Amino acid sequence: MENGRILIVDDDPTVRSVLSDVLRNVGNYLTEDARDGYEGIQKVRDNDYDLVFSDLTMPGLSGIDFMREARKVRPSLAVVVITGYSTMENAVNAMREGAKDFITKPFSVHTITALAQRIIGERKLYDKIAINNNYESFIGRLNAELFKKLQEISILQSISTELDALYDNKEIYEKIVEMASRLLLVREVSFGIVENGALNIKRAVGAEKRALPISGTLMEHVVRTGGHYIGSFGEANPHTGSPLTVPFFSIPFTINREVFGILNLSNKADGAAFSEEDVSLALTFSKKASQRIENNALYEVFYNNLINTLKALVISIEARDPHTRSHSDRVTAYALQIAEAMKLPAEDIDALRFGGYLHDIGKIGVRDTILLKPGKLTPEEKTEIELHPVIGGNIIKPLRFFPRERELILHHHERFDGTGYPDGLAGDRIPITSRILAVADTYDAMTTSRPYRSARTHGDAIAEIQRCSNSQFDAKVVRAFLQTLAGKGIFNGP
Ligand SMILES: [Fe+2]
Repeated sequence: MENGRILIVDDDPTVRSVLSDVLRNVGNYLTEDARDGYEGIQKVRDNDYDLVFSDLTMPGLSGIDFMREARKVRPSLAVVVITGYSTMENAVNAMREGAKDFITKPFSVHTITALAQRIIGERKLYDKIAINNNYESFIGRLNAELFKKLQEISILQSISTELDALYDNKEIYEKIVEMASRLLLVREVSFGIVENGALNIKRAVGAEKRALPISGTLMEHVVRTGGHYIGSFGEANPHTGSPLTVPFFSIPFTINREVFGILNLSNKADGAAFSEEDVSLALTFSKKASQRIENNALYEVFYNNLINTLKALVISIEARDPHTRSHSDRVTAYALQIAEAMKLPAEDIDALRFGGYLHDIGKIGVRDTILLKPGKLTPEEKTEIELHPVIGGNIIKPLRFFPRERELILHHHERFDGTGYPDGLAGDRIPITSRILAVADTYDAMTTSRPYRSARTHGDAIAEIQRCSNSQFDAKVVRAFLQTLAGKGIFNGP
């Protein structure tokens, strides 16, 4: 049994045959075609079509003229016009003239079948209303259904927005449980990850947070089939092992059809069973949340690869100069201690954790003869070495995720009094992370030996940093440094 009868009016035989193939084979529609508007009108007169696709620009009768004439014969005829992007204006005109919709060439299989399904579905609904005759109750029911759908859509939209703001999967697991209990009004919720044949519960409300066996429970069905399962009275409650007295709803979370997590819901607040709406809401929710988790996992892999690559680069730079080995590690550790003492926000701490490690990455662009020169540098050599913050900033620049790290690297040799490089920024115009790094960097440089001088003692280094407080360094950063374990000489770095 076909889903409907469709006429295709187009002077281009390729368009006729492609459309016809798609509608027949994918949508299971019966199709007929006409080479121009005149033949189209003849066919409309002789047959009752559920839908007509019509080209807009045809020799002889234009698409609009065809539509006008055809609707004189059959006023309720649904017409969708076919147009190229260049004739979009005509498409809009056609809609004004009563076309149901328009498609643009080239079109996708999905657009065409979805359009046909929608328009023919609407038409069948009208027919049903007409047969039903009881308009008022029918419309009332439709309105109630529509309202419910609308509510569902707005809930799902707010779920999407809430989930999209989370980049950490731990936060997402928490949100999943919180949202599921809010959406489906259940008292018992758990979300877990499938690991080594067990469900490792990450977050639970009204249930214990532990590893649950999967084998032999109703969750086995979920993992095996990838479909949801509603357990009923007498079956074992996977949370407790005891027989169920209320329905238990188990929903898979999948990536590439593989079940990686399960959301379990039970004990509805109103004591009712799970309705069809509950099921559809929960499944849409799990699909959306699975996507978010997958995206985050991909991002994490990508981020870790990137960080490892950059770290390898730093190691290769430090390997060129045995005196600076692990310098970046230590500087980062000191800088983090200062940032914590200053109670900086998490984003600054994150920027220091990664940016601190990479601060001298620009030295990759400085020649060995200069980088490793034991004696004093000539003015030209000094200029070259002073390029390293800019080179480092440029290395990080294409990685748009790290704007704070880039700022930190670019300005780590600025001085508080404005006499540093590359931009001569002063005071608060220097990013706080760079001001912190400057102190950590200088302290480490002084307390490790270099080819041209031996390491200074901790006390000497602190005295020197204090002497330069307010000129080279921000005094409040220096004060914070003195409070840290490193500043007190207790911690000598990793
Ligand atoms: Fe540097």
